[in-house]
Amino acid sequence: MKLWGGRFETGPSEVFERFSNSLHFDRRLLAADVRGSQAFARSLTRAGVLTEAECATIVEAFDSIRADAADPAFFDGATDEDVHSFVIGKLSQRVGALAGKIHTGRSRNEQVSLDVRLWLREECDRSRGLLAELMQALLDLAAKYPHAVIPGYTHLRRAQPVLWPHYLLAYFEMFARDFERFGEARRRTNVMPLGSGALAGSGFPHDREAIARDLDFAEITRNSMDVSADRDFALDYLYAASVTMIHLSRLAEDWILYSSEEFGWMELGDGVTSGSSLMPQKKNPDSLELIRGKSGRVLGALNALFFTMKGLPLTYNRDMQEDKEPLFEAADQVNGCLEMAALVAETVVLREQVPFDAADESWVVATDLAEALARNGTAFHTAHQLVGRLVLESVRAGRKPGDWNAETLARFAPEFTPDVARLLDPREGMKTREIAGGTGPRTVAAALATARDRLAQLR
Ligand code: ARG
Repeated sequence: MKLWGGRFETGPSEVFERFSNSLHFDRRLLAADVRGSQAFARSLTRAGVLTEAECATIVEAFDSIRADAADPAFFDGATDEDVHSFVIGKLSQRVGALAGKIHTGRSRNEQVSLDVRLWLREECDRSRGLLAELMQALLDLAAKYPHAVIPGYTHLRRAQPVLWPHYLLAYFEMFARDFERFGEARRRTNVMPLGSGALAGSGFPHDREAIARDLDFAEITRNSMDVSADRDFALDYLYAASVTMIHLSRLAEDWILYSSEEFGWMELGDGVTSGSSLMPQKKNPDSLELIRGKSGRVLGALNALFFTMKGLPLTYNRDMQEDKEPLFEAADQVNGCLEMAALVAETVVLREQVPFDAADESWVVATDLAEALARNGTAFHTAHQLVGRLVLESVRAGRKPGDWNAETLARFAPEFTPDVARLLDPREGMKTREIAGGTGPRTVAAALATARDRLAQLR
């Protein structure tokens, strides 16, 4: 149904309609549109525009529209400009002339803001729920190998030994922040715009607080022009989704590496990997590669809306219709990736010995040794030099830390007292890192327990 036309002598061209109609994507907002329109009908009734009986008829018709829309065929042949026009068209088929009153003093500018907010509020909850599932999967994976030692990396070079749970808890922290970010996006989304009209505020005496209560919004918007112009809440969601995707893509990259033959630390489940059509031996980490790849789409969605909004004059401009596809796309991708990542985490089998050997064979204990010398009174710079020389000599001679002992170390330099030799074992140095946030075994066990409590609080 066309919601305008009186001022025009001819209708829109077929090309323009095809170019500008949005029903094929904004139909996703139908349930939100119906729910918002029902609340608007009740508000019009309180404002004296509709009778109680008219309101009941309209609300009931909207219920039937929502129910019928479950069948995709409901949209067959529709030529409406957008979901708002489509829904009113359906209403008029069901209640006749009465449908002409539902849009009293209402603008699609406030309506689209409301619909997107209603829809996005639920998406924030969905993303948060999926994040919590992933965080749970990471904690479970940590608990499977509580004492496993891996080399931690900087510059993708072996740096210092850390506990496997400590590594996984790093991602837990990232996803915990993402959870908060989606909460922030939800808080800014959860504001009720109806009553704003096209830009100047409604000419009818709506009780806006009552509409907010009806639709379960925390508060009402404070400026009608801002309502028509604002898509910050959508940007907030896209930003939260983008940061989440960055974290997911880094996890994916780590595990693509760790499950490679070169690293050989972990095995991914058959259910989340693919074979090759040609090379019979292949077991490829496609699920993780797709997570890494899809992060580009979500970051693209954020940038698309940034650039759409930049420099738009107040208030509403049709450019803003371009908000929905990136938003839908980002929500689908981030939720799909979160679900996928949790499943991958459930299938991971860590071959504990391999990363342990990687730590044991390399000089990741060098910092532990230098710090021990410093604790014994050697200036750290001197200790650093001494251990550096020890490493250089060892590398030249092809010696690993385990090829040294208290006696040979003392002969290398008297600063290496017998207690220091203990630190040649990568498991030992970690015990000196029982500092808040460190990889000390007791600290990590406590951090795991705390993480479990924090997750239970979030859920
Ligand atoms: N389909 C439009 C959108 O998504 C709804 C608002 C249209 N308003 C207008 N004045 N053309 O932005």
